Amino acid sequence: MKIIIINGPNLNLLGKREPEIYGSISFENYFETLKAQFPQVELHYFQSNIEGELINKLQEIGFLFDGIILNAAAYTHTSIGIGDAVKSIKTPVIEVHISNVTAREPFRHTSFIAPNAVGIIAGFGLNSYNLAVEAFLKML
Ligand code: DQA
Repeated sequence: MKIIIINGPNLNLLGKREPEIYGSISFENYFETLKAQFPQVELHYFQSNIEGELINKLQEIGFLFDGIILNAAAYTHTSIGIGDAVKSIKTPVIEVHISNVTAREPFRHTSFIAPNAVGIIAGFGLNSYNLAVEAFLKML
């Protein structure tokens, strides 16, 4: 099973960025433990701060992979383009957030991804990604 994690803007700063919200582990370190936890899954990872690159990646793998775990970060709340890309591809998408976005500022309560995602996992720290992999394992 091929699953990709796609992370959006500022998530390259995990470990350094607002650690009280996003934790103090870098995504690269966390990704190693995640891969070790799911040896039966071919896990890939892509991060970009650029909206168009995220759309290009969704289009590129959206007809090839079995699952996409998408944390579009701030673009979740603003990007019709990423929302349309999720709608246009065949691969199912789980929307993920490290923080509980619904408990934060009102502008984080809107998602252009959610209407076309199979589900949303938010608020469990980096463990949100583990839960998304588990959800795909049960679903696919
Ligand atoms: C985030 C939540 C977003 O509102 C924020 O812009 C992020 C990270 C999260 O994982 O909690 O950059 O997607």
